[in-house]
Amino acid sequence: MKLKTTVTGLKGIVEVPGDKSISHRSIMFGSISYGETKVKNFLRAEDCMSTLNAFKKLGVSIEDDGEIITVHGVGFEGLKPAEEAIDIGNSGTSIRLISGILAGAAFETTMYGDDSIAKRPMNRVMLPLREMGASLHGKNDSEFPPITVKGTENLQPIHYKLPVASAQVKSAIIFAALQAKGTSTIEEKEATRNHTEDMIRQFGGEISTEGKVITVSGPQTLTGQTVVVPGDISSAAFFLVAGLIVPESKITLKNVGLNPTRTGIIEVIQQMGGKISIKEDNRTDNKAGEITVQYSQLKGTVIEGDIIPRLIDELPIIALLATQAEGETIIRDAEELKVKETNRIDAVANELTALGADITPTADGLIIHGKTSLHGGTVTSYGDHRIGMMLQIAALLVEEGDVELERAEAVSVSYPTFFDDLAKLEVK
Ligand code: S3P
Repeated sequence: MKLKTTVTGLKGIVEVPGDKSISHRSIMFGSISYGETKVKNFLRAEDCMSTLNAFKKLGVSIEDDGEIITVHGVGFEGLKPAEEAIDIGNSGTSIRLISGILAGAAFETTMYGDDSIAKRPMNRVMLPLREMGASLHGKNDSEFPPITVKGTENLQPIHYKLPVASAQVKSAIIFAALQAKGTSTIEEKEATRNHTEDMIRQFGGEISTEGKVITVSGPQTLTGQTVVVPGDISSAAFFLVAGLIVPESKITLKNVGLNPTRTGIIEVIQQMGGKISIKEDNRTDNKAGEITVQYSQLKGTVIEGDIIPRLIDELPIIALLATQAEGETIIRDAEELKVKETNRIDAVANELTALGADITPTADGLIIHGKTSLHGGTVTSYGDHRIGMMLQIAALLVEEGDVELERAEAVSVSYPTFFDDLAKLEVK
């Protein structure tokens, strides 16, 4: 696909679609609760549809009237064996969290996905879930999908220290712990997104967090709720960066989720000297607000330590931001980027270098020297939605030559209307 290039004065308002993490979980919690769950502003993107279709295959009735999704919850006990293996597409969140849910179901389920899923590490969820009594195995006894989960109605509680900072792993264990008889404790390596914990409380369950230790007792019974999904800050991130780096721009993002475990990018923008203002909505459920950015003179920074999980999905677009800042930006402690939808350290370094940026990959991050001007070229998303969207924002700065993006269709994994939303903004 030929990308939009040579843009100045990007102006207007974008309302990004619903949060991917919360949309996945709304279907999961709706299914394992009793009674009806209504979901508003559900993200109808490939990843979340994979979760929705998985629960339909597990016997849950789910309706979509085009506006509201209604899930007729059956409780953990009401899930039924799927008639065939479940295709979860590109979605790491689906395969890992559903493994935790199925750890307590006394039947066998196989889940598979695309080429990227076939390379995602699964031992991180398989090891603790086995310790709790479930049996799980990957392809040819490896840790890689397709994976088969055979649950047990006799799940044991666990005391587990997470070896990686991962909300997916934490959530898989929590879903299993909700079905185990007794109290489990999970110690995080660093605090990660807490949507699972928030939604347990919203659905009438109990869970507590003290520092990095989460305590949850089972078995628990949850009750269906209405979930209003806020806009996804990880999708908003592409327009935040566009507004900051395209000369003469001013963009407002409306209804963006502002859960503090997700807002690391806002702090980085402020550290780099970006002009950003935030107006919070006075809502009681998921915290949300309006963010406005303007073209800014930026300076390099260091991004490391406990902020990393709070902006993990935004690092590719933050790397682009750093190419437009004066001086050096160092990203470290981010080795998890290597096991995302693609190896995002290599993908970012290769593709931005191909457009003229000065970026060096390291074992756990990237070193970026700015400010560089970008030129045309042929780049690829590697089938990774966030790499594809980052490259389109990079292309806006290109004044000479075309930018051709291979595998552009990947953006539909999290943001099917991304190119349309960009086209709606005014340009000078
Ligand atoms: C997610 C957790 C993160 C994130 C992913 C969504 C979630 O993955 O990268 O896009 O919804 O729990 P990890 O847990 O692997 O860091």
